[in-house]
Amino acid sequence: MKRRILIVDDETGIRDSLSIGLEREGCEVAEAPDAEGALSVAGAFHPDLALVDVRLPGRDGLWVLQHLREAGVPVVMISGNATLREAVEAVKQGAFDFLEKPLSIDKVLVTIHRALDYERIKTRVAILSEKAGPAEPVGNSPVWSQALDTAERVAPTDAAVLLIGESGTGKELVAGWIHAHSARAEGAFVPVNMAAMPETLIESELFGHEKGAFTGAAATRKGKFELAAGGTLFLDEIGELPVALQPKLLRALESGEIQRLGGEGTRKTDARIIAATNRDLAAAVAAGKFREDLFFRLNVIPIRLPPLRDRGDDARLLADIFLENFCKRHRRPLMRWTPEARDLLRRARWPGNVRELKNLCERLAILHEGDIPAAVVEDMLSFPAQSGTVGGAAEGELRAKLDKVEADILRETLAACGGNHTTAAQRLGISRSQLYRKLERLGIKTELTG
Ligand SMILES: Nc1ncnc2c1ncn2[C@@H]1O[C@H](COP(=O)(O)OP(=O)(O)OP(=O)(O)O)[C@@H](O)[C@H]1O
Ligand SMILES: [Mg+2]
Repeated sequence: MKRRILIVDDETGIRDSLSIGLEREGCEVAEAPDAEGALSVAGAFHPDLALVDVRLPGRDGLWVLQHLREAGVPVVMISGNATLREAVEAVKQGAFDFLEKPLSIDKVLVTIHRALDYERIKTRVAILSEKAGPAEPVGNSPVWSQALDTAERVAPTDAAVLLIGESGTGKELVAGWIHAHSARAEGAFVPVNMAAMPETLIESELFGHEKGAFTGAAATRKGKFELAAGGTLFLDEIGELPVALQPKLLRALESGEIQRLGGEGTRKTDARIIAATNRDLAAAVAAGKFREDLFFRLNVIPIRLPPLRDRGDDARLLADIFLENFCKRHRRPLMRWTPEARDLLRRARWPGNVRELKNLCERLAILHEGDIPAAVVEDMLSFPAQSGTVGGAAEGELRAKLDKVEADILRETLAACGGNHTTAAQRLGISRSQLYRKLERLGIKTELTG
């Protein structure tokens, strides 16, 4: 398969020589001279990787990096002598690596291959670890069971579902579960996040476009509606859908027909729609930010996913399952919660809901040893518990202890991986940029390799 590489540099000479070199190696190449151009080309071209100059006219390369990373595109920075500091900063912010000018095409190719390999492995690890986790939504509390009962009842139908819940309450998980328990389970589950894309791209993402529909539309591309044919289209963060696009979505839903951008004629679409929101859509309707007709079309079966703090003992149940799974996944000895820690799990406010709990369990599995006291949990919470606080004076001491454990693990892992950051990060189950941040925070000095 041809690799698609996006080159972002304001110097025509650099773009030309890279293009020639990469095309000779069988890559498909697109170019952009500045930051905004980079994003609009990326939206249409869907690169496998981007080479981005640190210094660009207007918004700089770090800005491009941030947006491309959010879109899941791996980035290698290009740096001149004067921008080395920024290049290192870029790596900390998630760039795979940087290349120094003058560029040698061999070095560029090696780095691209490494970056793409790394992405491939990362995806595979992510898929495997997803499988290792609970495939089923877990929960016993009445509020949760009620939500899941509704999901179960609606799953086999083709009715539109609106999932409503705070961040991290399991909207995407439940959407996937409904799909898996529907007659469309063999079809694709296609998520589109309305908040993760600039307005200009959402339309082409949803409906697709014909070649040449707009600058940068180098090839015809199917929209998510088409990709979800026979399956389920998951419209995530639907409240963020720009007002200008709402009539178009409504038309597609009502007529069952879509039109590609720049295309002639319509195509049938039969995707089942599940939408999700963490905002109060009814309030958005009242405020004129969301069309009422579209709201009714999506809100056929509303399902409210309760925040974790309202789910009683579910927090403890989930905590046990997550902790055990993460200990196994990271090959760590099994550990248990002390009764005080369990109690704290139940009382905590969990602004990040299940996601926050899950992250906490993973950190504990990696960093902690032996039974887990309440104070350690308290220290990791993003928000203190509602009452009966633990810690206080002991907190600084705890942080220092945890830091030491963490530093030891990092050093050991790095040593075991021969100093290779990429391998070490993989083994720790964190991204390379997370690893850099940790090393920096803990003051661990290493060579900048791998
Ligand atoms: N009931 C549950 N059982 C097991 N895992 C859960 C449950 N609810 C959520 N999770 C896990 O918590 C994490 C967050 O869930 P998910 O991404 O579905 O939340 P979300 O509501 O879509 O959040 P956001 O609004 O931030 O997108 C995921 O890793 C998911 O697998
Ligand atoms: Mg989500």
